[in-house]
Amino acid sequence: MGKFIPLSIPNFEGNEEKYVVDAIASTFVSTVGGYVTQMEKKMAEFLNVPNVAVCQSGTSALHLSLVEAEVKPGDVVIVPPLTFIAAVNPVKYQFATPVFIDCDDSFCMDPVKLRLFCEEECEWDGEKLNYKGAPVKALVVVHVFGNMADMESIMETAEKYNIKVVEDATEALGTKYTEGKYKDKYAGTIGDFGCYSFNGNKIITTGGGGAVTSNKPEVVDHLRFLSTQAKTDPHYYIHDEIGYNYRMTNLQAALGVAQMEELPEFIKRKQKNYDLYEKLFSGFEYGKLMPFREGTASNKWFYSLCIDRNYIKATMRDIIIALRERGMETRPIWGLINEQKPYEGEVTYKLEKAPYYASRILNIPSTTQITEEEIKYVVDEVKALLRSLANE
Ligand SMILES: Cc1ncc(COP(=O)(O)O)c(C=O)c1O
Repeated sequence: MGKFIPLSIPNFEGNEEKYVVDAIASTFVSTVGGYVTQMEKKMAEFLNVPNVAVCQSGTSALHLSLVEAEVKPGDVVIVPPLTFIAAVNPVKYQFATPVFIDCDDSFCMDPVKLRLFCEEECEWDGEKLNYKGAPVKALVVVHVFGNMADMESIMETAEKYNIKVVEDATEALGTKYTEGKYKDKYAGTIGDFGCYSFNGNKIITTGGGGAVTSNKPEVVDHLRFLSTQAKTDPHYYIHDEIGYNYRMTNLQAALGVAQMEELPEFIKRKQKNYDLYEKLFSGFEYGKLMPFREGTASNKWFYSLCIDRNYIKATMRDIIIALRERGMETRPIWGLINEQKPYEGEVTYKLEKAPYYASRILNIPSTTQITEEEIKYVVDEVKALLRSLANE
């Protein structure tokens, strides 16, 4: 195989260049411009929601959500341990306290453990849930790798205990339920807030960028207001709240509008490529391609091979380096957030699956440009390497 196979790179097969050049020609390159509003309209249409605010990043979307949820210093926010750290850092921006709850086999928050934590470790005072005297204000549920968390159960617990739900759908734009209570609902449109990211490796990209939605359109208006420094008067510089410089620029949005046109095609490709990987890995003795939740149509953004640690003792670093030499980019799943330095000593609850998967999951190339021949090559090489490493 001559060409190096990347993990997940941008795909600009559509109108990207045309729209970006047009945005430059218009001189509207900052946070005001036609593409910004078009991007919001396209996102809202796609997600079937009334209102979306676009912003600078998924991280800023998450931060704005916590601000809007009135997460204050000392409040508790329930978070996942096995995801990208950006999902949890905004809790610290608010000087709040994270509590890490385990994941299930979808890598998303375990709804049973969430329920148990609320029931057994917290007290309900009739209005709010308290953990060691501090209010449990919000939970951040991440739809990991394009999977969907078990939202029915999670929402039931959150509603019972008056906890605001921030859906981190940064990796799951286009994932939706196909059955059950939330049939046809997209990831990010079920909880109180839904956050999306358009950074370079996401299913669509604006270079850097994000979006936030809410089940209440007026809340999205307020999020947009906060993202533009909370200026209350059209002429005078009057600010009644602390705002942020979090709004997406017209240049980013020009890229985004073109990417939105291609999103359905990108999802189709991701799904088709996953199916081929699944077929080729089926029956492999040293690794299993992880499935996506039943009852959902996932965007299948990232593919996860779970390596059998009974036989394969090599470190992920060694595996990744060896695969790079064989012409492909792979990566390990994240290190547990609760083990990262800024989070040392924070409360964890029944972590079992998160550490299990943290040492076993290898992400393999899922880029939308990958060919069938390349997928076959990736599978052959991964299998050959792992067989050579087995029992070493
Ligand atoms: C789960 C998760 N949360 C948050 C983010 C943050 O998004 P961004 O990089 O756009 O700030 C990302 C992606 O980087 C992510 O994968």
